[in-house]
Amino acid sequence: MTQNLLSEALSAISACKTTIAAEEIRIAFLGKKGKLTDALKAMGQASPEKRKTLGAELNQIKQEITDALEAKKSALAEVELNTRLIAEKLDVTLPPRGEYRGKIHPITQVTEEVTAIFADLGFTVETGPDIEDDEHNFSALNIPESHPARQMHDTFYLKGLGARDLGLGMSEENTSTQNLEPRTLLRTHTSTVQIRTMREEKPPFRFIATGSTYRCDSDLTHTPMFHQVEALVIDKNINMGHLKGCISEFLRVFFELDELPTRFRPSFFPFTEPSAEIDIGCSRSKESLKIGAGSDWLEIGGCGMVHPNVLTNCGIDPNEWQGFAFGMGLERLAMLKYGIPDLRTFFDSDIRWLQHYGFDPLNIPNLVVGL
Ligand code: PHE
Repeated sequence: MTQNLLSEALSAISACKTTIAAEEIRIAFLGKKGKLTDALKAMGQASPEKRKTLGAELNQIKQEITDALEAKKSALAEVELNTRLIAEKLDVTLPPRGEYRGKIHPITQVTEEVTAIFADLGFTVETGPDIEDDEHNFSALNIPESHPARQMHDTFYLKGLGARDLGLGMSEENTSTQNLEPRTLLRTHTSTVQIRTMREEKPPFRFIATGSTYRCDSDLTHTPMFHQVEALVIDKNINMGHLKGCISEFLRVFFELDELPTRFRPSFFPFTEPSAEIDIGCSRSKESLKIGAGSDWLEIGGCGMVHPNVLTNCGIDPNEWQGFAFGMGLERLAMLKYGIPDLRTFFDSDIRWLQHYGFDPLNIPNLVVGL
């Protein structure tokens, strides 16, 4: 009887053609109500001597069926995968279908617009990693360990990943906590690129850095990932007038307005002194927000003269060199310029949204033709 069970199972297995059928066979024999399971249960009625031999035999059969099933399943899985790969083969050289034309995401477009404007003002582009360490995100930027700004930044720390594991270019003297493996985090601002570039190259500097930044914050007006543009100018005899002129000129070109009032409101950042918040003029009505001359102001970013400690931390003599820095949110710039009302839609990956707010791939921002 037990041998019949075995040959019945083995012939079913060898005849079976799909992994689904193989699973059905497993259920039919080894499942809760399977034939072999029933046989094992029925053993209880047998005499003690018989039970011993029967038990060994049934377990042996169970093993054989399990092995045969495993072998069959993996062979079938491979065949099925190959058939699927052939069936789902995609010819990426085919021309696109008509219904969806690819569009450029507003963040990409605005990044390119901003880059074109600053390139025209003589700025180069620098980059830095998204995964950073305390040193570049905080300490070197004059934000000490106990500073409340560290809490304010709602930092995402990475568990179990030290900066050295990632080859983030930590030299011993740059490491504020000499004995500890520096913590890694997702950069909370692009100001990290100020430090990286100033430590790698010699002044003068005139560059921007754009890219993703991260803060543990999510509501109507905050997303855990967003984008910033950072600018740094270091030279001799740079003053607040240069900062104001540069930012105002950028904003006027970006918003394509001849008249765009700007206001610099005293503020605080540990890495700049003095520091200011940048506001642009606007008028608000119930339904709309209009950028330009008006009775209201809208905050657009932060700025200031680079703090002497930051320069010193990068091996630059603050008595000889000075300059300014600023940072702005790219989503905010994109929303204001293109009338996109909801921040969170930027990251919904909704193709209809992209069809509506996206840009023609051939419409590459260019100051000659216009942004
Ligand atoms: N890093 C600041 C922030 O993210 C912005 C900033 C950049 C302020 C440069 C001053 C100078 O809030």
